[in-house]
Amino acid sequence: MNIERIRQQFPIFSLASASNSVFLDSAAGTQMCKRALEASVEAAIENNANLGGHFSTSVIAEKAIGQARCAAAALVNAHCAEEIVFGQNMTTLTFHLSRCLGRSLGKGDEIVLTQSDHEANISPWLELAKDLELKIRWLPFDPLTYGFSTADMESIITERTKVVALSYANNVTGTINDVAAVAALAKRKGAMVYVDAVQFAPHGVIDVQTLGCDFLVCSSHKLHGPHHAILWGRLALLERLMPYKPRPTADKPPYKFETGSKSREAIAGILGTIDHLAWIGREFGACGEQTGKRQQIVAGMHAIVEYEQRLVQSALEGLSSFKGVHIHGYRTSHERERRVPTVSFTLESTPSEMISRHMAEQGIRLWHGHHFSPQTVRALGIDEHDGVARISLAQYTSEDDVHRFLSVMDDLVRIMP
Ligand SMILES: Cc1ncc(COP(=O)(O)O)c(C=O)c1O
Repeated sequence: MNIERIRQQFPIFSLASASNSVFLDSAAGTQMCKRALEASVEAAIENNANLGGHFSTSVIAEKAIGQARCAAAALVNAHCAEEIVFGQNMTTLTFHLSRCLGRSLGKGDEIVLTQSDHEANISPWLELAKDLELKIRWLPFDPLTYGFSTADMESIITERTKVVALSYANNVTGTINDVAAVAALAKRKGAMVYVDAVQFAPHGVIDVQTLGCDFLVCSSHKLHGPHHAILWGRLALLERLMPYKPRPTADKPPYKFETGSKSREAIAGILGTIDHLAWIGREFGACGEQTGKRQQIVAGMHAIVEYEQRLVQSALEGLSSFKGVHIHGYRTSHERERRVPTVSFTLESTPSEMISRHMAEQGIRLWHGHHFSPQTVRALGIDEHDGVARISLAQYTSEDDVHRFLSVMDDLVRIMP
């Protein structure tokens, strides 16, 4: 993958104000690609109308939403576009869907959550459990292996389990969870599986058919698009569920889940960002114009993963060489397929807040804290208030970005006690 050509696709890098900045904050939010920005602006200027009308702007706006749904279906390998629901963000979609599922749950039913998930895939289920007197069972996170144990899963997922909610990739350690194994076990016990793919989506090929889950959600703003999110659900389930909605809203999926006016600008931007991934497949993957969108996206993701894995390895090696730095996640090259390029670390005797402040002063953008996963941070034996410093690489991160970060770390390590 040619990094210069990738960076040309991101208008931020042509701004003078960003010329001296290094963006290592993609796990919190990625920069938007040109195609997403252009599609959003076009929708706002040229096709700004309510849906369902006979006049041209309405017809075009409706068509653009249909195209975005097809593109999102190709992104996750859905059976059809009707399995795609758009919403404000992953958190809101998860609150929404959990309420819908709650309509068929009752006292004593169980929900399995993991101790290593982002709160967006924990709090909605906890609130539901409180309202309906459901039982929550926790899948413990093992800070030594950065994952779950199969033995724990066998005993925690039972015949009473109705939903298992877990993340595809952890936003602190970067661990990629074995979703297919958890889903297979949950299916044997008759439970539904809800997957938070927010952190995995920018760094891997999603295939809901091979995962065997029932719902999967990801955020477009972590995927180089606008602030919006995509929920995939099995059509049979979406048909059965009864969402909370205004009475005149259509009764069919996906429309019945998309209450109120849709953000047409954001949905158009999602089409732009998926087109961008397909473009990478055509330009840098083994994939031509003639192939379908799914193949182009898959080829694009493979090119991205290969590039990012190499880069994160040099970041990990550089960080490991500093005295007093602790990396909280997989760090060796033979483990690299088990992680996304998000690396959390602490520096002995140095608050993480000081690391992010010092980095910001040098033009390096990264986050510190618990990253909305306080349980993971606590399980790692770290005070959740200061938390960990976190770098997250993206398709637009250059080798020079990583070198600059390591060189500032080098200075920091020297000046700290
Ligand atoms: C793993 C994970 N899940 C969910 C979310 C929440 O996503 P959203 O901002 O779309 O609500 C985040 C945000 O950082 C995340 O990292």
